[in-house]
Amino acid sequence: MSNKELKTTGDGSHTLFNSAVGEYYHSIHGAIQESTHVFIEAGLHSRASGPGKINILEIGFGTGLNCLLSYSESLELGLPVTYTAFEPFPLSKATISLLNYCRFEGLAGYESVFHAMHEKFSGLIKLRNDFLLSRINTAFEEAILETGSFNLVYFDAFSPEVQPELWQPEIFGKIRESLVPGGILVTYCAKGAVRRALQQSGFSTERLPGPPGKREMLRATAI
Ligand SMILES: C[S@@+](CC[C@H](N)C(=O)[O-])C[C@H]1O[C@@H](n2cnc3c(N)ncnc32)[C@H](O)[C@@H]1O
Repeated sequence: MSNKELKTTGDGSHTLFNSAVGEYYHSIHGAIQESTHVFIEAGLHSRASGPGKINILEIGFGTGLNCLLSYSESLELGLPVTYTAFEPFPLSKATISLLNYCRFEGLAGYESVFHAMHEKFSGLIKLRNDFLLSRINTAFEEAILETGSFNLVYFDAFSPEVQPELWQPEIFGKIRESLVPGGILVTYCAKGAVRRALQQSGFSTERLPGPPGKREMLRATAI
């Protein structure tokens, strides 16, 4: 597994520890619990009542847990989704096959979808007729995005301590341009510097209660 160590988190779901960076991919209090709270409940659910399809942009695809949860939830809600994900360091099939997400309620039976999500590192993957995943195997800093093409962003990079370059106004400004007005960005990080960088880049921000083990998270709305 190279520099990735498998770890069981507080809710029984797995995460990975990247020893080169010194960080986990998810909260050690619960990987599924955190992803559901931050990205599905504060993100996808707040978009689900709007008209039309949901165009999601993810920064840091990693294990694909956010995509898998979005797949499951959008099926329940009858929502068509396009999902564009940046990941410069994709995980090997051997690592993916160790992850236990499909043993959990709501994700059981999705093994083939989970493996399909990881079948290639770049290009289009049709997960169902109304769920299209586009994987991009480059660093987000290099992304060229169409103006006004997304309405929801999952910002799930490593923390500002280890990846400061991704939490800057230039990056958030690029994301802001790619969002429709009223589009939202959700992230697990609630640091003041991140909130101010988002505000400088054309977002209004809200601090929301975080998942267990974390006081707050951020939701930003493109104004
Ligand atoms: C905190 S992990 C979260 C991963 C993922 N969302 C998940 O649920 O497994 C951060 C991810 O960002 C990826 N990453 C690192 N540098 C990046 C960059 N410059 N652009 C986009 N993603 C990056 C890492 O490889 C890692 O997969």
